[in-house]
Amino acid sequence: MAFPASFIDELVARNPIEDVVGQYVTLKRSGSNLFGLCPFHGEKTASFSVAPDKGIFYCFGCHKGGGVINFEMEIEGLSYPDAVRALAKRAGMEVPEDEQYQSRYRQQERLWALHKEAARFYHSQLYAPVGAEALRYAAGRGMPKSILTKFGIGYAPDSWTDLVDYLRKKGYTDQELRDSGLVTVSKKNGNLFDRFRDRLMFPIIDVRGNVIGFGGRIMNDKDKSAAKYLNSPETLIFNKRKNLFALNLAKKSKLGYLILVEGYMDAIALHQYGFDCAVASLGTALTEDGANLLSRYTDQVVLIYDGDAAGQNATQRAIPILEKAGLQVKVLQMRDAKDPDEFLKKFGADRFKLLLEESSNRVEYQLAAILKKYDLRDDDQKVQYLQESAGLISTLGSSVQREVYAGRVAEVAKISLDAMKLEVNRAYKRRQYQEKKKQEKIDLSPAKNLQPKSRAIRYDNLKSAMAEEMLLSLILREPALLEEVKDLEADMFSSPLLGRAYDQLCQRHRQGLEVSLSGLTDFEPEEMSHIAGILQRQDGPVNEQALRDCALTIREEYQKAHTQSTDDLMRLREKMQKSKGIKA
Ligand code: CTP
Ligand code: MN
Repeated sequence: MAFPASFIDELVARNPIEDVVGQYVTLKRSGSNLFGLCPFHGEKTASFSVAPDKGIFYCFGCHKGGGVINFEMEIEGLSYPDAVRALAKRAGMEVPEDEQYQSRYRQQERLWALHKEAARFYHSQLYAPVGAEALRYAAGRGMPKSILTKFGIGYAPDSWTDLVDYLRKKGYTDQELRDSGLVTVSKKNGNLFDRFRDRLMFPIIDVRGNVIGFGGRIMNDKDKSAAKYLNSPETLIFNKRKNLFALNLAKKSKLGYLILVEGYMDAIALHQYGFDCAVASLGTALTEDGANLLSRYTDQVVLIYDGDAAGQNATQRAIPILEKAGLQVKVLQMRDAKDPDEFLKKFGADRFKLLLEESSNRVEYQLAAILKKYDLRDDDQKVQYLQESAGLISTLGSSVQREVYAGRVAEVAKISLDAMKLEVNRAYKRRQYQEKKKQEKIDLSPAKNLQPKSRAIRYDNLKSAMAEEMLLSLILREPALLEEVKDLEADMFSSPLLGRAYDQLCQRHRQGLEVSLSGLTDFEPEEMSHIAGILQRQDGPVNEQALRDCALTIREEYQKAHTQSTDDLMRLREKMQKSKGIKA
């Protein structure tokens, strides 16, 4: 649906990009730009820029960019209209739109409200007579009332429709109940039933504070017929790959790192014992999305998975995912208890702190894991141990690191450091060779690197396109310059994308609207990124001469490309004359 241009302009004006971005990214000023760590890809050095004067963001690393609406779309995963609605809400503006129009965003808002009601209901049941046993169970597991309140823990009674009835009374429709995932639908007659019954309920809350789902635990571990944990299914508002339990609390921690654990109870116990930086994945393995989410709030993660084989495997899988998101990884090896919850309750916070201090960086952890696999008294196994360790060490970026760890392995295996170094070098060369091969493949198509990533944005005429880029950046920085090139037409642009942008900007100028990137509509995210990139890369002087030079190049290139036939020539002459006439 199309919003009025004047509304969009006001929306953009009332949502300064540095403020909106600032909610997610810590920004530091550098000249006229602000820089921070990109929220869209993992990185250690800030290549994510915000230009408040231009109203744009652009990441020099992953090349995402655009105006404030694009940012909202990208960071919250919203469609264009929903991003507009969210920003309008932020700025306290009324959105001009059809009342009948049930937007996805409205639907989401209803589901958030519904979940909040459900959480209230479950929590109240914990203190009702039906919840007596659940309350006893919680106490038995060492959860004080303060923790039950802090996490909003509740109880789903052992009934068929208590929640359904409660929510209907609150005005939620059956469709909304079905959309919430909190009910099941009878195959026989379509009736709705509570999905969670007789379970201790853990609300799952996103970083903005919305309840988006629940995990429910049975209270009788002897009952092998029921799954120990039951989680909300995926819904419009619940994506378990993109959220982490307790991050809403942990993101405020002052500890400077985040702890990632496997279970709800582990995260809760850690908070209870003062480690308020703990989060848990939601009944799935850690995903790239989860790691990127973590990297928005910290650059160091301590992994604490269960001590069993499954936990160790999950640790090995999580390490590269976290590192790819730019996170420094430490691993705490669980011992004397199966998980952090059990450990804390057995030994307390002080002893846990010791474990935490002992927790090693991921390389030490991985070397220890390799060592466990082999019996070094056996020569064959010893060779395998050395090779596998060398392979791991060879992946390390710094030569100092490689030397240090090679030394440790040599000591463990009782071989000379030189022999071990040789082995690491061999593995290193092998990897370099493989990477070179990969790079060669990419380099074989050199045009790829200069060109925009997407096929739809490819330049046919680089010379003209460069002039078009420069021209756009000039008029975006100094809209008054548009007066100087009135005779330049959008269809003279060699790049359809840049031509379209130019056309819209001219139209906006004529209508007296803001000539800015943020006001452009009907551009794909990657197209906006591309234009934002142009704007952030070009920062030469803004003057009329530069503009005229660009316009001249564009015209000349257009002319060259269109003088193939006499017909074309005629049309071109007409056009040039017409435009000169206007100028004169
Ligand atoms: N999990 C799940 N479904 C299951 C079992 C586990 O989704 N049937 C997820 C839950 O997110 C749970 C996590 O895996 O929090 C860890 O499970 P597990 O190690 O079995 O449980 P604990 O954390 O030890 O839970 P508890 O202490 O309550 O037994
Ligand atoms: Mn446990």
